[in-house]
Amino acid sequence: MTSRAETRARTVDFRAGPPYSEETHPVEITLEQKAFGLETDRIYEGLFKRSTPWLVQKGRILYFRPVQVKPNEDPPVIQSENDVKRYGVITVDEISGEDLAREQISKDVAAVLRIFKRVEDNLPDFSRHATAAFRNVKGISRSYYQWGREETEHSNVAGLILLATGHSTQEELDDDYYKTQENTWEPPFETPIENLIYAMFQEGNTHGNYIALAKIMEEQGAVKCAYAIRQVASDEAFHRASYRRYVEAYARLHPQEAQEAALNVAWNFRMPALHLMRNRTRDTVRVVSTIGYNKEEVENLLRRGLKDLSSFVNQERAEEVVRGYWPAEMARLNETMRKPASAVPVSELESPPTQNRNGIAPA
Ligand SMILES: [Fe+2]
Ligand SMILES: [Fe+2]
Repeated sequence: MTSRAETRARTVDFRAGPPYSEETHPVEITLEQKAFGLETDRIYEGLFKRSTPWLVQKGRILYFRPVQVKPNEDPPVIQSENDVKRYGVITVDEISGEDLAREQISKDVAAVLRIFKRVEDNLPDFSRHATAAFRNVKGISRSYYQWGREETEHSNVAGLILLATGHSTQEELDDDYYKTQENTWEPPFETPIENLIYAMFQEGNTHGNYIALAKIMEEQGAVKCAYAIRQVASDEAFHRASYRRYVEAYARLHPQEAQEAALNVAWNFRMPALHLMRNRTRDTVRVVSTIGYNKEEVENLLRRGLKDLSSFVNQERAEEVVRGYWPAEMARLNETMRKPASAVPVSELESPPTQNRNGIAPA
């Protein structure tokens, strides 16, 4: 216990400190930002605003069913256990850490999950840039809070699985989190619309990656882990849908600019995970060989992204971009990628030689 005299002795004299200083600066908000902001707010409020569908808390995952409200009925105020029963605001499912601990996932799957978790852990940078770029666009700026809220759980669920299945300790997860924060993520494209389109493509690919990972977990008998990952995947699909709507709203204002932006993003597209790999070559091989990516799949993802934007993207030009996409440096990995899941032994990847079997020096 500290005596009152000692506390007083350590107290700073507030009268001698700097004065309270809160600054504000004028911001120019264009008419277009206002119109686009209100349009996207209508989209967000009408289609994408939702209460949390699930969350990770105290070492378990809770899934919720939203309140069932009949058309023209006001959403009920839930005040008692009886209301909960009556309206079905219930935890419909729960996966405990013990449930997950009874399952096993391979070392490769755990490694891929750890890499995906790092992307989710980049949230401070994603949010920082996103809210700054769209500060004056009401709908997008407001929807980022929900989006960020949902993304935080993706990291949590990956962490819980790694922990429960014995692939990471809490200390390792904490260290890995801060290792990720040692480098910032900066937006890959110059204009806000390009970065918005990038988000749409990235969410779509992330959805596909999580589905692929869930399938492998199922093959390994880890059905609860797979279930949890499928829920994450469904969030990513939901996110893609919202970004697509915002992009389309922008394209209604500037179709030509939006088209060029979409083609540029597709042509230069890379997943953010590439920057978060501790060893890029080893981990790229590991991700693609574990979840079984190949050239056709990547092309199809891009093709679908550009097709979904066909209201303003010329599809002949889109096809040209898709066909020319596959990066030259990836072509050298093509052989590895075509092999079925886990074709590259982890032992080889753990301590990579100066050159791997494809003659590629590790990054
Ligand atoms: Fe996510
Ligand atoms: Fe997402």
